[in-house]
Order: sequence, then C-alpha cells, then structure tokens
Amino acid sequence: MPSYLVTGSKGQLGQCFHSIQSEFPQYQLLFAPQSEVDITQVQTLSNYFKKHPFEGIINCAAYTQVDQAETDTDAARKINSDGVRTLIKFADAKSLKLIHFSTDFVFDGTKKGEYLEDDQATPLSNYGQSKREGEVFLEKANCPSVNFRVSWLYSPFGKNFVKTIIKTCQSKTVLKVVDNQFGKPTNGIDLARAVLSCLKHPDLFKNKTYHFAQGPQTTWFDFARKITQLIGSNCKVEPISSLAYPTAAKRPPNSALNTQRIENTLSLNIRPWESALEECIKRIRENE
Ligand SMILES: NC(=O)c1ccc[n+]([C@@H]2O[C@H](COP(=O)([O-])OP(=O)(O)OC[C@H]3O[C@@H](n4cnc5c(N)ncnc54)[C@H](OP(=O)(O)O)[C@@H]3O)[C@@H](O)[C@H]2O)c1
Repeated sequence: MPSYLVTGSKGQLGQCFHSIQSEFPQYQLLFAPQSEVDITQVQTLSNYFKKHPFEGIINCAAYTQVDQAETDTDAARKINSDGVRTLIKFADAKSLKLIHFSTDFVFDGTKKGEYLEDDQATPLSNYGQSKREGEVFLEKANCPSVNFRVSWLYSPFGKNFVKTIIKTCQSKTVLKVVDNQFGKPTNGIDLARAVLSCLKHPDLFKNKTYHFAQGPQTTWFDFARKITQLIGSNCKVEPISSLAYPTAAKRPPNSALNTQRIENTLSLNIRPWESALEECIKRIRENE
C-alpha cells in the first residue's frame, strides 16, 4: 500500500488529513509531528524513512504566524524556505513525490480580478516572502512535486478565523471585521480530501502549482457575518476598514484565487464556501 509521510501533523492541515484518513484506505498516512520529523533537519527525515519507508511526502509543516514573521524573519525563512529546500533535496535523492502548500499571501493583491497560478508573485510581507521562496525551490525540483496554493484556511482544528469568531461572540456583543480585503475561504478538510483524491490522477504533476479555494469571493466581514448567522449568535458584526485595523504584516487587498486549472485538469468539483462553512461549524459544535 502506498505510504505518505505527513509532516507538521499536529498543525491545522495535518489534523485535517488525520480526520479523513479512513476515507482513503488505499493509502497509509504516516503522521509525524515536528518532534519526530523536523523539515529543517535532514537527519530526522532519513531516520524516519529508515524505520517507515514512504513513497511521498505531504508537507503540512510551516511557519504560519503572519504578523510575528515581520520581526521573526529568520524563523519564518528557516522553515518556509530552507526547510522546503531540505525536503526537496531529500525527495529528489529518493525520487519521492512531494505535495506542498502555499498561500495567497504571495500576491500583492493589486490585481483586478482573480489570481491565476502564473501571475506574478510579489509578496507584501515576510511571511509571504518566505513562502514564495519555498515555492521557487519547488518549481525547480526534479522529483514529482506539486504546490497547492490556498487562502483563508479554516477547519475544526488549530487556530483559525472561524474558531476565533465563534469564541469572540461568546464574550462580545459587537465585533468589528475588515470589509475591504477580498478573498476565498478554504475548508481544510475539503482541501485534504481533494489532495488525497488526486494523488493517483495521471495529470497531477503536469503542473507545479494549483490554486484551491472556495468561491465566490467574499470579505472577512461577510464571512464573519455568515459565521455568526450559522451559530445563531446575537453578536453584531460591523464593518471596519483595514486602515483602521493596522497589523504588523501587510495583507493583500484582493487575493481571490482562480481555481479553473485544478477543476479542469484534475476534474475536481469545488463546492462553494457557504456549504463548506456550514459543515465545519456543525463539526465544531459536535466537538464542543
Ligand atoms: N492558516 C491559513 O490561514 C493559511 C492560509 C493559506 C495557506 N496556508 C498554508 O497551509 C499550510 C498549513 O497551514 P496550517 O494552518 O496547518 O499551519 P499550522 O496550524 O501553523 O501548522 C503548521 C505545523 O508545522 C509544524 N512545524 C513548524 N516548523 C516545523 C518544522 N521545522 N518541521 C516540522 N514541522 C514544523 C508546526 O509544529 P508545532 O505545532 O510544533 O509548532 C505545526 O504543527 C501551510 O503551508 C500554510 O502556509 C495557511
């Protein structure tokens, strides 16, 4: 049975893969937390491989603290750039398949309309820059490798916008949310399911980059309003401009990802974010 190492397995996306593994009994997923496999330490990869050989890597390991990366530049680069290069060298040497994830934050958000995979990436933040460097290494990798660029990732696991809004609504009556940044949310479980369902697709590695996100495009404000509506909260969501809500890292004003390539090439049907959100909230509620 083909085995895939899932790095960063204790993170949000790693847990999404864990939660759906039983739907894909044709694969053995080997979940490795950072304490077992550190993507910046090739020795930890080699040691793990000797004990549990695998034919591919699903890299969920990343430095994802967007604002902190503005001051913690070295740490972000060490993981998102150098770590990815280490993974690639290892995968190249052993002819392993490599599945990687990147972010809409590689774009500066000035485009009118949706971003295509080959649009110029000029990140506004250190986090975006570190992720872009990882992408560039991957574009040059010799092993069968692919990068799924995703945006506004949320799930029942880890820290994310949906869980933050639900929690904040429990203690506040009014919530101000940015209404001038446009993008597409991504349910992490849907993403994990899409990745596993595409692993055997003959055209998977024909492109180095695919966008995966759930349309139609929205704003954080509208997304938050839908969350409060779905949980039946009386908390009032009010719009605020990003100018009135300064953050350490600059965010792209528009980062809506066009998903035609993945839908056409890999025959994927991506459902709209509203139904994906509804399902996620149901799951969060069940876990409470
Ligand atoms: N979250 C979003 O909104 C978003 C949006 C777009 C794209 N993405 C991308 O989606 C992917 C998954 O993100 P996520 O939300 O699942 O991130 P996450 O919850 O922060 O998980 C990242 C995981 O990576 C682990 N890690 C950090 N350094 C490592 C290292 N050197 N070796 C091995 N593991 C390491 C962390 O371990 P510890 O738990 O021990 O720290 C953590 O478990 C990332 O590539 C991210 O850039 C995320």
